[in-house]
Amino acid sequence: VDVTIRPATAADADFLTDMAVAAVNWEPGRALTRDQLLSIPALARYLAGWPRRTDIGFVAESRGQRLGATWLRLLPPEDPGYGFVAADVPELSIAVVATHRGQGIGRGLLRALIAAAHAAGHPRLSLSVERANPARALYAAEGFRPVGGDANAYVMVRDLP
Ligand SMILES: CC(C)(COP(=O)(O)OP(=O)(O)OC[C@H]1O[C@@H](n2cnc3c(N)ncnc32)[C@H](O)[C@@H]1OP(=O)(O)O)[C@@H](O)C(=O)NCCC(=O)NCCS
Repeated sequence: VDVTIRPATAADADFLTDMAVAAVNWEPGRALTRDQLLSIPALARYLAGWPRRTDIGFVAESRGQRLGATWLRLLPPEDPGYGFVAADVPELSIAVVATHRGQGIGRGLLRALIAAAHAAGHPRLSLSVERANPARALYAAEGFRPVGGDANAYVMVRDLP
């Protein structure tokens, strides 16, 4: 399929919410809903008020259908995100709709976001990924390395030299 990657806009807020739900529900058997996600501040903060001035995001699209998204956001040290490493390092979120995974869309989105984050002057990007999530292999292949975490999840960082 011909997939286009374009910047995410305010009109994509609902789709980004769907993709945040998909990211939480990466493991079969999980069934967090949109309403649940939006009612959990620790999860809703990745999307609230999208787009904020410093947010950057991309949407993958084919024939007008949105197939995936990735975005980054700076979260404050006094209320750090799951992948927090420093006040000036934004945290990345990503998901592709289930029927279109494994076709290179996620990798394309990730590369677009890395390039845009570099262009915006960010020194690094971070993320949190559960240890069992195969997304970890994609992150490692695109230059992210584990820098910490806990028993359940790794924090990974990508330098933007
Ligand atoms: C992770 C995700 C965004 C990757 O997007 P994608 O379009 O499926 O990935 P791509 O096809 O571009 O790249 C696939 C690579 O990702 C990895 N990968 C990610 N999920 C995978 C899966 N379910 N099975 C196998 N490999 C997977 C592999 O390393 C693979 O590399 P390879 O093609 O060389 O084997 C997508 O699978 C997804 O939405 N997963 C569920 C949500 C999620 O886990 N989000 C991240 C939370 S931290």
